[in-house]
Amino acid sequence: MADREFNFGPGNPDPGVFPTHELGQAAQRVIARLGPELAHYPDQLGLPELRAVAAERFARNHGVRPPLEDIVITNGAMQGLILSAQALAQRGDSVVMEEFEYGGTIRVFKQYDLRLLGVPVDDDGMRMDALADILEREKPAFIYTTASYQNPTGTTLPLERRQQLLALARAHKLPIVEDDTYGDISFVPLGQRAIYAMAEPGEVVYIGSFSKILGPGLRLGFFLAAPPLHAQLMAWKIDGGTSALSQMIAAEYFRDNLWEHVEEGRGSVKDKRNILLDALEAEFSGVEGMHWTRPDGGLFVWIKLPDTLDRTRLRELATAHGIMYATGQAFHALDQDVPYLRLAFGWIEREDIPTGVRLLAQCVREAMPAPVA
Ligand SMILES: Cc1ncc(COP(=O)(O)O)c(C=O)c1O
Repeated sequence: MADREFNFGPGNPDPGVFPTHELGQAAQRVIARLGPELAHYPDQLGLPELRAVAAERFARNHGVRPPLEDIVITNGAMQGLILSAQALAQRGDSVVMEEFEYGGTIRVFKQYDLRLLGVPVDDDGMRMDALADILEREKPAFIYTTASYQNPTGTTLPLERRQQLLALARAHKLPIVEDDTYGDISFVPLGQRAIYAMAEPGEVVYIGSFSKILGPGLRLGFFLAAPPLHAQLMAWKIDGGTSALSQMIAAEYFRDNLWEHVEEGRGSVKDKRNILLDALEAEFSGVEGMHWTRPDGGLFVWIKLPDTLDRTRLRELATAHGIMYATGQAFHALDQDVPYLRLAFGWIEREDIPTGVRLLAQCVREAMPAPVA
């Protein structure tokens, strides 16, 4: 076992900016004020104050203020994904998504017996020519996309592709499920509006999260949908409501700290992203068959490995050095062992990044086939 850990695994924000003390104070204030409300079930749509925070985020980021009645607080973005699958698809249907996708999404869709149709991606996210081809042959239940700072590739769909995606969905009469879990973690001024903000009401379900701007332990997310999609998803939200205590604490904290906290989180992970990109450049530039994405936001760099590299060996070597990362296979719609890996840069300490990458480079060299004499 290695005595040091270089954990590029978890897709979490920087634990160093988690506001433990402030949340404790917020908890004391809200329990004193609203405690008796916990004696009954929460509002099915969620606490109005937290829905207002979700509306504020959407308005600031995407230029349109959604009505509060279209917003529903969920048990993480994950519940939005589950509700979308339940409401929009029948078992056995297909669903279109990026070829490399968040493992949680893959698990949810597979659990509902959905057939996953992965659309090839390039540096600008989902390829629209490939999507158009698939839609000529298949009739999926919906199109799922993480258009901004995608997990795992870190790519962002440019405006033109967003328009094309919307046009294709319209032409084939398909709803879009837009997962914007990373939307606030932007390192450049947000150039792209959510597809939801460009669409007509009822065309898109927008999924947001509080996991990446606060912490996944609170299990808070939301979906945004206009009629009739709103009612279709709500028909499946039969869980008794999302934790009122979590909602109250988050709403109380964000009432005065939303953008300050988002900025602090952005700043710290941007810094880590820069350190990671510099380290990758220093260690891997010129290695044939290797390249990586340079994300403008989110928490991930997606690395293409040389095809000839022994990926099992790399994993063993990396583990022996205490280096953790996610394999390409974990994100492949069809579970294929693809020559990629994902480095997450939110969780790891900034000081550990250069050493971790240097050790990873050693492992990569060792896992390469011996040159033919
Ligand atoms: C694309 C994507 N969607 C949804 C989720 C789940 O988020 P939450 O913690 O809000 O359920 C994640 C978590 O990593 C994710 O990467």
